[in-house]
Amino acid sequence: MRNKINIAIDGPAGAGKSTIAKAIARELGIAYLDTGAMYRACGLKALNLGIDCFDAEQITQMIQDTSIDITYEGGVQKVWLDGTDVTSLIRTQEVSKAASDIGTNANVRKKLVHLQQTIAADKSVVMDGRDIAMYVLPNADFKFYVTASVEERAKRRYKDLYESNTLNGRSMDDLIVEIAARDYVDMNREAAPLRPADDAEIVDTSCLTADEAVEYILTKIMDKEEG
Ligand code: DC
Repeated sequence: MRNKINIAIDGPAGAGKSTIAKAIARELGIAYLDTGAMYRACGLKALNLGIDCFDAEQITQMIQDTSIDITYEGGVQKVWLDGTDVTSLIRTQEVSKAASDIGTNANVRKKLVHLQQTIAADKSVVMDGRDIAMYVLPNADFKFYVTASVEERAKRRYKDLYESNTLNGRSMDDLIVEIAARDYVDMNREAAPLRPADDAEIVDTSCLTADEAVEYILTKIMDKEEG
């Protein structure tokens, strides 16, 4: 394998990107960057300050005054907001929505994309997000767009939430509506809307287990690297 390798994994909410990206990074022995965590941290700040994520002026002002840092502890990514570790605070449904909403702001994107590019500049990384192949790492060595049907993604989310006892009364239909709404915002925003890059390979995981998807992507990478 070459000295430095950048792998972009994009796709909609709940398609299994982070599970897949983490496993690939582990197998290849390189860093993993979950860019969604950065948008989540910004969304959390807006929620804490009571700022509407679609209020362009206030969000633009807020972001100028915000520091986001990524560190790794035992291989696990931690995200810091203005010097505070917020890793465990950013996985709620409220923050998911705020992250998606704040991601429509071009100034937020500019700041976070710059940070992501700086992190990838001098090391091998598997980066997961929405705009990695198109905007963050347009020259990535490998680009995958991991997707699955809305129903399948809602089914997986239901299982996760059920198992962690955090369904909070939501039904499968509620989750389908939540995921479809997030897709709509992510795919229809003006700034860097979610869509597969022309040179990305689309991996539909609707009928694949996470292990099968990882195996498929790893084989693609190794075939090219060793071939
Ligand atoms: O990957 P995730 O579910 O943690 O991302 C949360 C939201 O953050 C997602 O709905 C849209 C936004 N996001 C983005 O706009 N660009 C990225 N590269 C990653 C996430």
